[in-house]
Amino acid sequence: MSLQNLTRFARLELIGAPTPLEYLPRLSDYLGREIYIKRDDVTPVAMGGNKLRKLEFLAAEALREGADTLITAGAIQSNHVRQTAAVAAKLGLHCVALLENPMGTRAENYLSNGNRLLLDLFNAQTEMCDALTDPDAQLEALATRVEAQGFRPYVIPVGGSNALGALGYVESALEIAQQCEGAVDLSSVVVASGSAGTHAGLAVGLEQLMPEVELVGVTVSRTVEQQKPKVLALQQAVAQTLELEAHADIILWDDYFAPAYGVPNDEGMEAVKLLARLEGILLDPVYTGKAMAGLIDGIEQQRFKDNGPILFVHTGGAPALFAYHPHI
Ligand SMILES: Cc1ncc(COP(=O)(O)O)c(C=O)c1O
Repeated sequence: MSLQNLTRFARLELIGAPTPLEYLPRLSDYLGREIYIKRDDVTPVAMGGNKLRKLEFLAAEALREGADTLITAGAIQSNHVRQTAAVAAKLGLHCVALLENPMGTRAENYLSNGNRLLLDLFNAQTEMCDALTDPDAQLEALATRVEAQGFRPYVIPVGGSNALGALGYVESALEIAQQCEGAVDLSSVVVASGSAGTHAGLAVGLEQLMPEVELVGVTVSRTVEQQKPKVLALQQAVAQTLELEAHADIILWDDYFAPAYGVPNDEGMEAVKLLARLEGILLDPVYTGKAMAGLIDGIEQQRFKDNGPILFVHTGGAPALFAYHPHI
């Protein structure tokens, strides 16, 4: 293994200690398969989630560049925007967020509860746009305006998913490898695949550390044809950043996100209820419920490479439960 270049990158200590990796006895009994969970939903800032791992690297670069404002974009109920706003508050920075309403909903809780409520608590400045059709260009235009007002902005792409941010998930792979060593002989890992940084970082890290493990990304917004180039490009960018080669196959399942990004489906909501009932663990309607639906169906359909233990990477998102009430 050679991930030593990871330590060359400046990183803020937002998380502090490895997140727990736990066995889920009641879910395992129910599914007839050993299931483990990586608790990245309990990273310790502002209700947790996967974006804090990316922000450890991204916010460190923002500070090094002398920025005083973090700029980013996402859906009104974006967990990424919520975590970015919280980190900005913690660091004494401004946060300006460009938001879209991807479903065009007028549901009161979606518009003002859950993650959106928390943005106001963190004192983030928000701006609505019709749609994030070209988010990089829209963020640059926003940064230019913010700069003209006398601020020094640092732009974080949608989902924090560039090579630097995805290093956070190389770090997560390191934790997984250490936590499994001598304890769990993992067969497969399942994760939600959205803006793709989480998936790509895990792909690079696991290829180095646990090359026999199968990594499955369950898409939450795109078909395999649409998502694969995104994950592959980031996988290569992360590998290049670490001066590594990456050849691991990118496995994607796109059968679980219908009808669309951000719109709950029955299988996803059944998975949310199952984890709550059996394990007291909160998934979410947009990402982890759908990813867990993939894990459950994958076992039923024998889609995994064998019958060995499966690790579910819980990327967070439970604050959105309040935003989707009473529609779920
Ligand atoms: C709870 C949750 N899970 C998974 C993801 C997907 O991670 P990524 O965007 O890195 O693919 C997100 C992204 O917003 C998220 O909020």
